[in-house]
Amino acid sequence: MTSKIWGGRFKSATDAVLEAINVSIDFDKRLGLQDVRGSLAHVAMLGETGIVSRDDAAKIADGLERVKAEIENERFHFSRALEDIHMNVESRLAELIGPAAGRLHTARSRNDQVATDFRLYIRDQIDALDVELADLQLALATRARDEAASVMPGFTHLQSAQPVTLGHHLLAYVEMIARDRGRLRDARARLNECPLGAAALAGTSFPIDRAMTAHALGFDRPTANSLDSVSDRDFVLETLSAAAICATHLSRFAEEIVLWTTPQFGFIALSDKFTTGSSIMPQKRNPDAAELARGKSGRVIGALVALLVVMKGLPLAYSKDMQEDKEGAFDALDTLSLCIAAIAGMVRDMRVDRARMKAAAGAGYATATDLADWLVRALSLPFREAHHVTGRIVALAEARGVGLEDLTLEEMRSVEPRINADVCDVLGVEKSVQSRRSFGGTAPDNVRAAAQVWFDRLKDK
Ligand code: ARG
Repeated sequence: MTSKIWGGRFKSATDAVLEAINVSIDFDKRLGLQDVRGSLAHVAMLGETGIVSRDDAAKIADGLERVKAEIENERFHFSRALEDIHMNVESRLAELIGPAAGRLHTARSRNDQVATDFRLYIRDQIDALDVELADLQLALATRARDEAASVMPGFTHLQSAQPVTLGHHLLAYVEMIARDRGRLRDARARLNECPLGAAALAGTSFPIDRAMTAHALGFDRPTANSLDSVSDRDFVLETLSAAAICATHLSRFAEEIVLWTTPQFGFIALSDKFTTGSSIMPQKRNPDAAELARGKSGRVIGALVALLVVMKGLPLAYSKDMQEDKEGAFDALDTLSLCIAAIAGMVRDMRVDRARMKAAAGAGYATATDLADWLVRALSLPFREAHHVTGRIVALAEARGVGLEDLTLEEMRSVEPRINADVCDVLGVEKSVQSRRSFGGTAPDNVRAAAQVWFDRLKDK
């Protein structure tokens, strides 16, 4: 027999390298409070069902409360020799209350224990992320309201396409984040079943009450199949997948911040609070926070892919491979939370150069579609023909090195004689955005109304 909790049938100690590869306390100590919470629910049930005497159950619960306080006050000593968080908590409990501690693990295994702890942890993280994402949406919606009529170039292929407003652009991200929050909510709803009581893999011969523990831990119900309960990590995968999509959205916005703060674009500027300098080039103002929000999306996506690979070949039920579910998930969710805060900070901080954006909006013949649409409306040209006529007018302007609105009526008429002075109404960028009143379009009135809806929805949350 060795000193390990599981050492009964072992004769000699484990090799140091086994200890090194096996130990998880360095990271799973983050599950300390969830582990105690699960154990409190378990022991209450053991006492209630008479599996453990009420006396012992009370003693254990008492000891667990003390462990909890030690963890909360950072007085708990985590020992690497005890492998993981479950052994650490149980062994500290034994130090505190003596042999009664040995009854806590009745009708339970570390396999259902860790699955329960991790579900509790992920659930807490999802709830925290939801609040942080709502705050980011509020930051975006607030700026969108102010910039509802601020014209900027809209791009496709990163080429000037049609003018839009900055408010419209910011609200696009509000919509993406709304779906990110929805995906996290969906993951939460599906993960909210309690694996505790599945034991090692087959259930238990003790008359446990799984509904009681599920209820005590805020789960909707116990999981239905004991094998599935201890084998599955799709709740982590689903959460990481939602997190990876969200990180990808943030990364795209971060990329736009990087572009827009360049002297070449100059659409926005970040204050010193969100800017770093260069050690050699005195003039530099670097948007490091945006670059890192973009770069760190790689870690979130990586965590998802890594866990998919870990899981894909595992036969049922538990395998120790599954201990690899935690570090990536911890890191990914921490990283996402940090990126959300950084982006929200930059959204609140950025100064918008409306004149510069407006000037850029007119470049690249961005109102050519407006001209084509006018030819359809005023002259009843089929759109394909209007497209062609407009293309020739654009070529003419390009040859002269001027914008569409700088061409004379005569020059336009040299391409299409029926064009009249009314055309001037549609060639400016402001007119262009004002005309896009279709549902979901970029017209300032639309944007103002949409921003207000979001603002009202978010402000008191
Ligand atoms: N530390 C383990 C993990 O994170 C806990 C479960 C261990 N179970 C076992 N049968 N060794 O997966």
